[in-house]
Amino acid sequence: MRAVVFTNPREPVQVSEVDLDPPGPGEVSVAIAAAGVCHSDLHVRRGDWAVPAPLVMGHEGAGQVMETGPGVSELAEGDHVVLSWIAPCGQCRYCLAGRPARCKVAATVVAPGGVLMDGTSRLSLGGTRIAHYLGVSSFAERAVVPASGAIKIRDDAPLDLVALVGCAVATGVGAVQNTAAVERGATVAVIGCGGVGLSVVQGARLAGASRIVAVDVRPEKAALAGRLGATDQVDATADDPVAAVRDLVPDGVDYAFDAIGLTSTTAQALAMLGLGGAAVLVGLPPDGATVSFEPLALAEADQRILGSNYGSVRPAADIPALGSTGSWTATWRCASWSPRGFRSSPPRPRSMTWSPAAPCARC
Ligand SMILES: NC(=O)c1ccc[n+]([C@@H]2O[C@H](COP(=O)([O-])OP(=O)(O)OC[C@H]3O[C@@H](n4cnc5c(N)ncnc54)[C@H](O)[C@@H]3O)[C@@H](O)[C@H]2O)c1
Ligand SMILES: [Zn+2]
Ligand SMILES: [Zn+2]
Repeated sequence: MRAVVFTNPREPVQVSEVDLDPPGPGEVSVAIAAAGVCHSDLHVRRGDWAVPAPLVMGHEGAGQVMETGPGVSELAEGDHVVLSWIAPCGQCRYCLAGRPARCKVAATVVAPGGVLMDGTSRLSLGGTRIAHYLGVSSFAERAVVPASGAIKIRDDAPLDLVALVGCAVATGVGAVQNTAAVERGATVAVIGCGGVGLSVVQGARLAGASRIVAVDVRPEKAALAGRLGATDQVDATADDPVAAVRDLVPDGVDYAFDAIGLTSTTAQALAMLGLGGAAVLVGLPPDGATVSFEPLALAEADQRILGSNYGSVRPAADIPALGSTGSWTATWRCASWSPRGFRSSPPRPRSMTWSPAAPCARC
């Protein structure tokens, strides 16, 4: 099969002929219908993180089950699935505690080793074993993944849209709903309006936030956030984002989401907080980056810093739910929807394809 192979940041990624073994026990093979490009793939490409290499890139995608390995009873050939880049082992203390996004096997075996749960790879290039990326490797015609990382969704969900649920949407909406548990009426700032930040905006809207301030260096991205539920937009090239947010919300916000991961934006998120506020770190910096903050100010203001990995999701429950409440459902209810226009409308930026089941703000 053809697959996108990353070797090192000094060489371009290559589309190569890669061999894929059949699924082993507890695994399935999936024909990839669509894959999204997340900024995390760009981090890999740039060499920001130590990853096993060579590897087949991609960790966001959807497709159809082609073959099930021994012992897989919950999936069958032809099932439509969204790929989850955390495939919970179901047995570690975090999985048993209902926190599968912290799965120890995913964090200590699959991700660092570039392997599947049993510690081995199904991928090879010219007879040499190569690595999986986060147990997914969706930039390929097919993938072999653990069955718990292939989440069955309803057959009528468009695979090209729900592919985004596998990372950007789960990460962004999950950061709001699970990690931060944003309350109705809360005030929110979102720094960075890419696939993840736009999903944070939509999660905040679903949560009933009273103010959602979208910050981006590209005004068209902040404007897109406005169409997806942000109440205010800040052009980070024209204004100091912290001052601009404090102009809009003088007390400071209850939640500031850093959906970029630069040390400067993490510091901005902290500086935007009001009393009792929480900075939610979703965007990821390169290995070794550090940010300083004043502990006295944080403690006296009763503030918190929350890290959010994969939106603290429970993939088996949250991914089908997000796939069902997404834009294709909302768009059906939207006056502008037509059966012809839905798929053939002009190319849209990534997360614009997903919006909450709330009114679409355009009709
Ligand atoms: N925590 C997790 O589990 C998780 C999951 C997925 C992605 N991520 C990380 O989230 C981050 C965002 O991913 P994405 O795919 O949405 O990225 P993206 O490239 O689609 O979007 C980034 C956005 O930030 C904007 N931006 C860049 N610099 C800015 C600045 N200084 N101020 C304001 N806006 C700025 C860009 O214009 C763009 O709109 C990445 O670091 C990615 O690795 C984390
Ligand atoms: Zn991602
Ligand atoms: Zn586990």
